[in-house]
Amino acid sequence: MKILVVYFSRNGHTARMAKEVARRCGADLDAIQERDSGATGWARWRVGWQMLVRANPPILQPRRNPRRYDLVIIGAPGTRLGVAPAVRTYVSQYRDCFNRVAFFCAEGPDADERVFAELTRICGKSPEAIFRVRRKGLPPAAHKDGLTDFMNDLRVE
Ligand SMILES: Cc1cc2nc3c(=O)[nH]c(=O)nc-3n(C[C@H](O)[C@H](O)[C@H](O)COP(=O)(O)O)c2cc1C
Repeated sequence: MKILVVYFSRNGHTARMAKEVARRCGADLDAIQERDSGATGWARWRVGWQMLVRANPPILQPRRNPRRYDLVIIGAPGTRLGVAPAVRTYVSQYRDCFNRVAFFCAEGPDADERVFAELTRICGKSPEAIFRVRRKGLPPAAHKDGLTDFMNDLRVE
């Protein structure tokens, strides 16, 4: 089975988890990249506004074509306001290319359900598995049990 792990990460936590997920199931990895990224106050304000209005900001062309994969695992930061804007753009643009999907959320507030619900709605299909990880559970720490359940649900190891 061909698997793609695609993720968006600003501070590196979702990226760490994505690399571990990809390593465990032998998947290709791709990062969602904002076209206008930045860590300035203005960039942060802009992302906050994009979250509030559910915007679809421009992203860079992905390196991998999700259509070529049997399963696309989408990794997103946990947020209280739903899916991070760059993830929303990616999923909205490529949802017709997805066969099977699964989601994971890294280290956010206890509102990941909102992220999973919005991803499900935009994808137009239910995830075959979901997985959330808190900071203390990020690699190389004790994330392994939850991640093993996720892998078992997907039958990819
Ligand atoms: C666009 C975006 C929105 C976020 N919103 C929240 C939030 O509403 N509440 C919160 O506690 N953390 C929020 N976070 C922080 C992430 O949950 C946290 O940084 C987590 O480690 C995963 O993000 P990372 O992959 O960028 O490290 C947000 C992060 C991003 C990138």
